Order: sequence, then C-alpha cells, then structure tokens
Amino acid sequence: MLNQTHEYQSCIQASERVAWKIDDLLPKDTSLDFTRRFLSDSLTNTEGITCLSAGEKLMLNQIRSNSYAHLFLFLEEYAVALAAQRAGLELHGNPTHMRALLRFSEEELKHQQLFARYTETFARGFKVPPALLDNQVAVAKAIMSKSNLGVLFFNLHMELMTQQHYVETMRDNERESLDPLFRNMLKHHWQEEAQHTRLDFLEAQKIIDGAPDMVDAAMTEYAELLQALRGTLNAQLQLDLQTFEKAAERTFTEAERKEIFDAQERSYVYGFIGMGMKAPLFLSRMRTLSPRAERRVLELAPDYYCN
Ligand SMILES: [Fe+2]
Ligand SMILES: [Fe+2]
Repeated sequence: MLNQTHEYQSCIQASERVAWKIDDLLPKDTSLDFTRRFLSDSLTNTEGITCLSAGEKLMLNQIRSNSYAHLFLFLEEYAVALAAQRAGLELHGNPTHMRALLRFSEEELKHQQLFARYTETFARGFKVPPALLDNQVAVAKAIMSKSNLGVLFFNLHMELMTQQHYVETMRDNERESLDPLFRNMLKHHWQEEAQHTRLDFLEAQKIIDGAPDMVDAAMTEYAELLQALRGTLNAQLQLDLQTFEKAAERTFTEAERKEIFDAQERSYVYGFIGMGMKAPLFLSRMRTLSPRAERRVLELAPDYYCN
C-alpha cells in the first residue's frame, strides 16, 4: 500500500482550518425563531400535504428539523466508536494517522454536543415537549458489531449525505426563507464531515489492501445497516406524529394520518438514505475502493426511492 501519511496530514490541516466552537454556532441562551422553517422542504416534504394548514406545515417542518438534529446525535454515537477504534489500532503505529483519527472522534463528540444543545434549545421554545428516540447506545453497539469495513462504507454514505443536506438548504428558491441559524449549523457540520469522509475512504482502503476478499461481506453488512436505519427512522417518525398531533391540537382522521405518514416516510427514507446513494462523490469513492461495491449500491438504490 502507498504511504498515505501525507493524506492524513492534509486532513489534520484542513480540520484545523475549519474548526469551530459550539458556543459560536449556538450560544447557550439562544431563542429559536419559530416564525421560520428550519430545514428545506426537500428534506421534510411538508408543503405538499393537502390536509394541513400553512401553520401546521410550518410546525411539522420544525418538528422534523428537531428530529434531524437528534438523529445526527444518534448516528454519531457509533461514529465516535468507529473513529476511536480505528485510532486505537494506530497506537504505537503511525502517529499522524492516529492524530487524524482522534480529531475525527473528538469532532463527532462535539457534533453530538452541538445537536444536544439544539434539541434542548428547541424544547425550551416549542409548544409541547418533542418525543425523541433514546436508544442510541444500543443502536451504536449493534452497528459496531459489524466489521469495520462494513461500518466504514455505511459511514462514508452518511457523512457524504450531510453535504447534500447543506446544499439543499442553499437552493435559491428557499435560501432566504429558511432560518439562518439552522443553515449555518448544517454548513459547519459538513465542513468538518468533509475530512471524515476522506478518512473513511483511507481507512477502508487500508483494510481492502490487506484483505480484498472482505468487500462482498462488508457490502452485505452495509445493506443490513441501511435496513436497520430505515427501522430507526420509522420509529422516530411515529414519535414525530405524536408530537405533531399534540402541538396541532387536533386528532387526524385515518385518511389524513395516512397522507401525512406516507409523505413523511418517503421523505425520511430518501433524505437519510436515498440522497446519500445518489451523491456522485459517494459512488465514485465506492468505485475506487471496489467496482463491485459501487454496483451493489446501485442495485440497492431503488429500495430507497432513488431511481
Ligand atoms: Fe458529525
Ligand atoms: Fe463525521
């Protein structure tokens, strides 16, 4: 394998250049502006729901944005473990690799704390207490029971998707109407994730160079992780609908509930899974790691509303 130490060094330098503090993005005493939508409609799919008033659409957008922050806190629980485990493998090995991976792990902990502060800030200002999943440790342990290569593929997907999410909030038709605080958070999250995606790729390459036969099994694990994530998204969606019904102060009919559920299910699955599979950089990285890996992603894509 090529000596990639300069690549790891370049990740450290890029990370130092873009590093931010939680207090700069979201000071402790922040009040959110609940007159605005927080996330782009391409990620919340609330505007097209015919049974909702404009005020209800806004409220559902805000509930989804809060769940978005929480789900990243949730997913970063395994990312911390993954980066820390990969860093540990370089103990007494390559100090530059280890330092880059330790920064990766520290940044994910920081992201979790940022998103936790966001959900606390949200809960202080929102009409009703939002219901959120709380089993992130069990989920992280289940994810980490897979091989490092399977989890690295999954993580590369998740992290490149945060770029897509930021890009969606910058589209001309929505940019001015969205809350600048949330948009800024997505921007800074992606700026640090960008280095993580490079490290996922380098670490995956390290494993494949030593054991090229592992790719097929790791892709099976990747597919299993996507399925499991779909279950987690669905569980959060059920909680969102409970929160929404309380906040909107009305009970929806069966037909209305189905309309809302279907729109939200599609948006969760596409926004958290499909959008990543469509990211050109994800496909090209997977192709470089192994053309078989890219082919498998393309085979799985239609299951996630990604044609
Ligand atoms: Fe992160
Ligand atoms: Fe990350």
